[in-house]
Amino acid sequence: MTLNAQAPAPNAPSGALNIKALAPLMGAEIFDLDLSQPLDADLVADINDAFLAHHVLVFRDQSLPKDAQVAFSENFGELESHVHRLRSGEKRPALHVVNNLDENGMPTERPRTTGNYFWHTDKSYHAVPSLATLLYAVELPPSGGDTLFANTKRGYETLSAETKQQIADLRVEHSWEASRLNTGNTPATEAEKRDRPPVVHPLVRTHPNTGAKTLYVGMHTSHILDMPEDKSRALLDMLVDHTTKPELVYRHQWRMGDLVMWDNRCLLHRADKNYDMAAQRRLLHRTVIKGSLPF
Ligand SMILES: [Fe+2]
Repeated sequence: MTLNAQAPAPNAPSGALNIKALAPLMGAEIFDLDLSQPLDADLVADINDAFLAHHVLVFRDQSLPKDAQVAFSENFGELESHVHRLRSGEKRPALHVVNNLDENGMPTERPRTTGNYFWHTDKSYHAVPSLATLLYAVELPPSGGDTLFANTKRGYETLSAETKQQIADLRVEHSWEASRLNTGNTPATEAEKRDRPPVVHPLVRTHPNTGAKTLYVGMHTSHILDMPEDKSRALLDMLVDHTTKPELVYRHQWRMGDLVMWDNRCLLHRADKNYDMAAQRRLLHRTVIKGSLPF
């Protein structure tokens, strides 16, 4: 090595991402990127392409302060604030913490909300739901605490022609109120219901970037419009069961340093309680990118 030899600058353009698929239907891991450093436009475009191709991107070996996660996330769109407000009534900051801790900071089997343990797509109870969610592992149990992803594009593709025809034009009400009921959480308050009125989305959604048709279902759904309630619930449950069959699911087993970014427009996801929640800590930093009106 010569005296003036220098280490390559972080994120020096390499011409290609160091990327490896994790599973056939979704998921790819990306190495040799330092997301705490600024990314040039070409690299952001490469990441976007990989995101659309793989739906779940796992950036390994990161060391990300909160402001760096926010800055990285902002490469992909406007960030959303959390659905809950602070006690003062102010909106929460763009990054918030996901954990299994009680008010004293101790692990608990009964965290304030358990909605994330049920299949869902983020914020489908909003008229404009989430495009992508980014989770960065800060504290992990020794094993378990996985996150599962189900491919709703493949779910749609593998329906019978008859079912595709049956659901083609159906519209579904999603709401915060239904979500709380579906997951056995404390019912929505009157103020929450006022703040987050029900919204209606197509059952078969078209991905705005790829044009793929996907199933837009999950625990935030209330009912299918113009259909008897029992029939509507049975159909919604059947579609969730269909698109979350093991062969359509990727299980992410977290490693310290992982930042995982996924596409809410063609995936369902949920956390797995496969760890000792009462004794072990699981804490992740979350940022969410605002999407567009589903069609
Ligand atoms: Fe979620």
